[in-house]
Amino acid sequence: MSAHGDPLPMTSQACGPLTGTAEVPGDKSISHRSLILGAMAVGETTITGLLEGQDVLDTARAMRAFGAEVTDLGGGKWSVHGVGVGGFAEPENVIDCGNSGTGVRLIMGAMATSPIVATFTGDASLNGRPMARVTDPLALFGCQAIGRTGGRLPMTLVGAVEPVPVRYVVPVPSAQVKSAVLLAGLNAPGQTVVIEAEATRDHTERMLAGFGAEITVAETDDGREITLTGQPELKPQHIEVPRDPSSAAFPVCAALIVPGSDVLVPGIGLNPTRAGLFTTLREMGADLSYENERVEGGEPVADLRARFSPDLKGIAVPPERAASMIDEYPVLSVVAAFARGHTEMRGVKELRVKESDRIDAMAKGLRANGIEVEEGPDWWVVAGRGHGNVAGGATCASQLDHRIAMSFLILGMASQSPVQVDDAGPIATSFPIFEPLMQALGAQISRSKG
Ligand code: S3P
Repeated sequence: MSAHGDPLPMTSQACGPLTGTAEVPGDKSISHRSLILGAMAVGETTITGLLEGQDVLDTARAMRAFGAEVTDLGGGKWSVHGVGVGGFAEPENVIDCGNSGTGVRLIMGAMATSPIVATFTGDASLNGRPMARVTDPLALFGCQAIGRTGGRLPMTLVGAVEPVPVRYVVPVPSAQVKSAVLLAGLNAPGQTVVIEAEATRDHTERMLAGFGAEITVAETDDGREITLTGQPELKPQHIEVPRDPSSAAFPVCAALIVPGSDVLVPGIGLNPTRAGLFTTLREMGADLSYENERVEGGEPVADLRARFSPDLKGIAVPPERAASMIDEYPVLSVVAAFARGHTEMRGVKELRVKESDRIDAMAKGLRANGIEVEEGPDWWVVAGRGHGNVAGGATCASQLDHRIAMSFLILGMASQSPVQVDDAGPIATSFPIFEPLMQALGAQISRSKG
């Protein structure tokens, strides 16, 4: 089943060169944070380039339920009239975050230190994902959570009436957990400290500073130590959301494996905590260049140019790079299938608790399409077959996971036989224009019968 309707089977098949410009949508992580921080500021925040994918629209709806005025002004422009830190109203109804782990976890953090009660739910994928990683640290502030067995949604949070600040060492590399604690710390008096052993995406820290919060980051022997002074008055901002590197990954990887391709993907955010895939692809021999490098809205940005790369080779991806490309392993495994030699991906346990178990979902689909994959609890290895040697021909389960669906459609663009996904509906959560964008480059994607 798709997240929001009937299953939408889709097929892709080998095509001529992919050429042209791919204008991918706004960054999903920054879009969620723009709406949530805008709702916690006093006054009107304006946002351009907001990702209008279902995940972000669900967060917009949630912010309205907590009392913010969120308006779609058209053309990717939005305005948020915030209610201030500690100003959230109690929602009248259950908050449905759809497919979005980022949405629900950040919103839980944002409401956890207000004296209100909220109940959260999501789709079958989200309701299967672990929430204790967020509710455990939120309990330290004084917030109570009652959910299903195993810390699953649906779940009710009773916000702390008298929140206390927290010092928390994040036990898993997760920007969502780090961000939930920081957002909760906003309405606790005194200093909240978060320590992460491995650096994860730092949009929350950057944006909190932009909204006027007092926040410092120190590199220590234990990792990055982030200190936030609670109860600031956040000042409304104008935010220009950069285009999403995690969405750019799909046309970039397609161009690398489809013979003759030459694709420009302009204006991509290249924050070092997000850009690990592009470094990895270059190490594999990808013809991938950064053009027109610049800084926009405090984030490094460049135009990516990807061309067909006939000599891709498998590599061992350094495990310490995992956090900076965590969402990109599925599509990397597709490129790895067209490389010569093995691509080893280790230190990636977190892939098992995403929208799906992404190691399992990709391994099953790749094997069905003639590619050997070995896997363990926190690693997997793809045996590359080289260009022209990937069989294809199978139907793959997208498991309510947008990135799994898109990855298999990219696979089909360069395999011998077409590849079908059972449900491409979830793509709308993060990349609603994926189908027309890829078709405009020359891809042969079609809606198929189930
Ligand atoms: C995100 C953090 C990552 C990532 C997700 C977006 C964020 O999740 O996979 O797509 O915006 O903070 P984890 O925090 O679970 O690693």
